[in-house]
Amino acid sequence: MKKALKIIHVVGARPNFVKIASILRACRQAPEIESLLVHTGQHYSENMSRTFFEALEIPVPNVNLEVGSGSHAQQTAEIMKRFEPVVTESNPDAVLVVGDVNSTIACTLVAKKLGIGVIHVEAGLRSFDRSMPEEINRILTDAISDILFVTEPSGLVNLEREGIAGPRVHFVGNVMIDTLEYHRGKAADSRILCELDLQPGKYVVVTLHRPSNVDEHEAMVRILDALAEIQKKTNVVFPMHPRTVENLTSSGLISDIESLPNMLITEPLAYIDFLKLMSESKLVMTDSGGIQEETTILGIPCLTVRENTERPVTVSEGTNILVGTDTNRILEGYRESMDMTIPHSRPKFWDGKASQRIVSILLRSIMEGRKLADVRAD
Ligand code: UD1
Repeated sequence: MKKALKIIHVVGARPNFVKIASILRACRQAPEIESLLVHTGQHYSENMSRTFFEALEIPVPNVNLEVGSGSHAQQTAEIMKRFEPVVTESNPDAVLVVGDVNSTIACTLVAKKLGIGVIHVEAGLRSFDRSMPEEINRILTDAISDILFVTEPSGLVNLEREGIAGPRVHFVGNVMIDTLEYHRGKAADSRILCELDLQPGKYVVVTLHRPSNVDEHEAMVRILDALAEIQKKTNVVFPMHPRTVENLTSSGLISDIESLPNMLITEPLAYIDFLKLMSESKLVMTDSGGIQEETTILGIPCLTVRENTERPVTVSEGTNILVGTDTNRILEGYRESMDMTIPHSRPKFWDGKASQRIVSILLRSIMEGRKLADVRAD
């Protein structure tokens, strides 16, 4: 029997896997929806891709475009070239994209030019910093998407300012938190603290991968100076993204950081282990978007080493403090979050049910007999 709604779900990079896991799980509960999964292959290393599929119970992709790494233009163009025949052959009713990575914009462009409706999950976030590749991806994806699912109130305001409003925009909450809530129990049993010889509440977790930090030598030196001070007071664990390894190695900074006595550098960790590591830490320092959101729900202080965030609710309601990359500001933020408890609450709809809301809205649009690509005309 032909299903009422055939959706191609697109994933490419690590944070996409975390988001799609809960969306696919919710879609499996809806017999009206047929889901095909396309992995662009933007992230391909074992510990950046396959381990996430297993841990998050994501089905093996129907298609892997295997694009791998490259410049932005090469990567985006390659995804587009390889995705187009997949869409033409499978003729879906919609393409669903998540987040803001190159795979998101590449597949959105392909679908729209073939007249296929695009559903964007995590729409409306804005850092107002156009030097960030993700900001460009976000603005362009939102401008041409047909249904936009928003994680926090700022998303609604930003979209409205760009002339995107009305029945195609829905505030549903955060699918990344759905996945966190689903796996929290399992994470409690992770043995990662024993494996890394860490005591609960007695270490700081660091992740860095943004080009504005790890591709910029001076910013990196300022951050490493702060880390050198912090590790004098407490153990620091730094699961290192491949981009960061590459840059620290070519700039020669890797030996400086490796020589710090209380600094532990690891490979990128599996999802469940990383969740456990964050949950039991005394502080997380990061430039990731998703980790700002996860620490807000875990109630763990988060120092974001960026000047801005596209996720302001993590500052106004969560545990996030923006400290930029100045050594002294980072150290001040560290002291502040050690000395006092940051008041925080759970942002609206970050309750583990965002994917269910998304599926209900999609089913309603089928019942109303609307083609997704026509929603714009409402
Ligand atoms: C990408 C996303 C970023 C997201 C991040 C999560 C864009 C523009 N950026 O950044 O928004 O926060 O993913 O990790 O889409 N590499 C490997 N193995 C892999 C993947 C990458 O070794 O599996 C190395 C390659 O040397 C590559 C570099 O990491 O050149 C960067 O990868 P890329 O996908 O270009 O961007 P990210 O920095 O990971």
